[in-house]
Amino acid sequence: MTHSPVMLDEVCSALNLRAGGHYVDCTFGAGGYAQAILGCEGTSLLALDRDANVKPHAKALDARFGDRFGFVQTPFSKLEDAIAQHGWGDVQGIVLDIGVSSMQIDQPERGFSFMRDGPLDMRMGNTGPTAADAVNLLGADELSMIFRTFGEERGARRAAAAIVRTRAETPITRTGALADLMARVLGSGWQKIHPATRVFQALRIYINDELGELARALASAERMLAPAGRLVVVAFHSLEDRIVKRFFRVRSEMPAQGSRHLPQGEAAPFSPSFSLLTRKAVKPTMDEVKTNPRARSARLRAGERLDAPVFVAAPLVFPGIPDLHALEALT
Ligand SMILES: C[S@@+](CC[C@H](N)C(=O)[O-])C[C@H]1O[C@@H](n2cnc3c(N)ncnc32)[C@H](O)[C@@H]1O
Repeated sequence: MTHSPVMLDEVCSALNLRAGGHYVDCTFGAGGYAQAILGCEGTSLLALDRDANVKPHAKALDARFGDRFGFVQTPFSKLEDAIAQHGWGDVQGIVLDIGVSSMQIDQPERGFSFMRDGPLDMRMGNTGPTAADAVNLLGADELSMIFRTFGEERGARRAAAAIVRTRAETPITRTGALADLMARVLGSGWQKIHPATRVFQALRIYINDELGELARALASAERMLAPAGRLVVVAFHSLEDRIVKRFFRVRSEMPAQGSRHLPQGEAAPFSPSFSLLTRKAVKPTMDEVKTNPRARSARLRAGERLDAPVFVAAPLVFPGIPDLHALEALT
């Protein structure tokens, strides 16, 4: 199944497309947003995706739009390098549509789906450790922390203990085996979602460092956008949306004098680097959700870059979650 772009009209209008503008689509996928951006006369687009499987879609746009279009296979945390190598000094709009594409979920051999059996892989790119490496090599406490932090799974401890018991007999290498195990351990009577949903989400977020990637890409976007440039982000679950919301909030709110964020009597040392274009997250219309149920959890937030220095934020850390390099060293 090809991927239907989510909230396409809202994304294009938030980007405020203009002839002569340089735009970056950080999550190219099947190229739905890219085509729409290039559909505006005189725009140029640099598209990124870490998944090599999207290349045929990129080739098609290359043939159609020539020099106006470029594609780089890279994680979007490397946004600044990609823009510099493309020869652009700054950009007028950046969009991220985060998460997995329908093409990735629908191919059992990519290992994202608990509905169809495949190798327990889950990597969007083709490097680094797999979900099977995490499941078979990490300790019970580490797995439990991953399931709780990235899946908000209440049975995280039970799930991790069952994995450690099972793998002592046979390694868990298939999505079907993990899904069946989670159904036995976490399934109880009537449930709205499959009992393995949260554990699969947690492993996917961990293996692809999705939240770290997002935080780094947002900070890069702040550095690369020209004044009046637009940053538009579509997120699909609350963990991502919280990061986006907080990013825009701390950069758009001037702390009031005597605010609890500042020592008594100290003047605000900060001027906002973004103005908010969306006070609240924008949701898809009912019509869109009817025709594309995958859109139902989408939340769009957008901001316009102001002419102020970037905000220097502490990096995101997740205590108790092993670094992916540490996992790689175990493989
Ligand atoms: C939801 S799809 C995007 C669909 C696209 N907007 C369209 O209209 O076809 C998300 C895409 O982002 C890519 N992606 C996710 N995280 C990424 C990251 N950290 N770096 C680069 N690409 C990423 C995925 O491989 C996937 O192809």
